[in-house]
Amino acid sequence: MFKASIIGISGYTGEELLKILSKHKYIEIAGLYGRADSAVRDLKDFYPSYAGLNLKIKPLDLAEISKLSDIVFLALPHSASFPIVGRLLDAGVKIIDLSADFRIKNADVYEKWYGIKHSALQYLPEAVYGLSELNFEKIKTARLIANPGCYPTSILLACAPASKNFLVDFSDIAIDAQSGISGAGRKAAKDYFENEHPNARAYKAGGTHRHIPEIEQELSAMTGKKETISFTPHIIPMERGMLSTIYLNLKKKISEAQVVEMYKEFYKSQPFIKILEVGKLSNVKSVINTNFCEISIKIDERTNKLLVFSAIDNLGKGAAGQAAQNMNIVFGLKQDEGLLTQ
Ligand SMILES: NC(=O)c1ccc[n+]([C@@H]2O[C@H](COP(=O)([O-])OP(=O)(O)OC[C@H]3O[C@@H](n4cnc5c(N)ncnc54)[C@H](OP(=O)(O)O)[C@@H]3O)[C@@H](O)[C@H]2O)c1
Repeated sequence: MFKASIIGISGYTGEELLKILSKHKYIEIAGLYGRADSAVRDLKDFYPSYAGLNLKIKPLDLAEISKLSDIVFLALPHSASFPIVGRLLDAGVKIIDLSADFRIKNADVYEKWYGIKHSALQYLPEAVYGLSELNFEKIKTARLIANPGCYPTSILLACAPASKNFLVDFSDIAIDAQSGISGAGRKAAKDYFENEHPNARAYKAGGTHRHIPEIEQELSAMTGKKETISFTPHIIPMERGMLSTIYLNLKKKISEAQVVEMYKEFYKSQPFIKILEVGKLSNVKSVINTNFCEISIKIDERTNKLLVFSAIDNLGKGAAGQAAQNMNIVFGLKQDEGLLTQ
């Protein structure tokens, strides 16, 4: 058995990790932690449906976590991990960080978009971007995994096969993406459901969303040249789920059936990527509460665009599901261990 702890258990992704890890046959939950100044609580008082686990939520205690854990999930807002990672890595504990803190390789870019100086710079070079399907080999031996953001996961998985096959010109890429409200964390979701639900709207339009540098960094690594994206996120009146629609300029004449075959070939050994047949479009409902990414294709012949649709659960493949998939890879388990009955 491997021993796993979660820091940030009261948040959306912390809860989702608990759901997955508590049913995982090779994982023992070593500890569940809140803020350093919080009181000890029974897990059942916070999450009544987990009464059977008989666990406590404890205040953050890095010495205890280092002693008890093989791996730690950081389900915290950006910058909260800075004082934590060094202590855990030095103790030989593997880390999967769900925040953006180790995703952006250039510290100046991080500072510009996140408005805070990076104060754990020495660990940045070794952090592996945890997009499981594309970085499998590096994830296997990583000590520190930067789990990708939800929008980047849905978009990069949808773009990778087109990039590999030189099918499109990414210089004019546009993306519209819709997210369930849990994508913004518990507090924003509470505000939304109290004051706004049901509503759908764009937000952070005009190139201001923090996932832009992450998507551009990884897309540029795929194509080998600097890519700039036009990205508009929206919230939709659902608690969870995400759908990205990506508009790409085709470089050559090709049929939808040929593109679907290319995508199937690219992901042929991947358990969590479903490529839909021609004529079918991705559906958020089919991926909710799963770690799947459902990708579909359409060609707009009038404008010579390849449209790629990518559906994930933002808390599943977009966060905790992918984090658990990465943990499976690190421990040499089957990628889908504990993830098919989420
Ligand atoms: N939600 C998603 O769909 C999603 C997807 C991908 C990645 N992520 C990333 O995953 C991380 C967690 O997201 P989430 O949606 O779970 O957020 P959340 O629901 O807001 O939960 C945040 C957790 O962090 C704790 N926390 C907040 N500020 C802290 C601080 N300064 N020090 C220590 N603990 C602190 C909170 O504790 P209290 O309850 O005490 O405030 C809570 O347990 C974020 O970095 C987010 O960007 C989220």
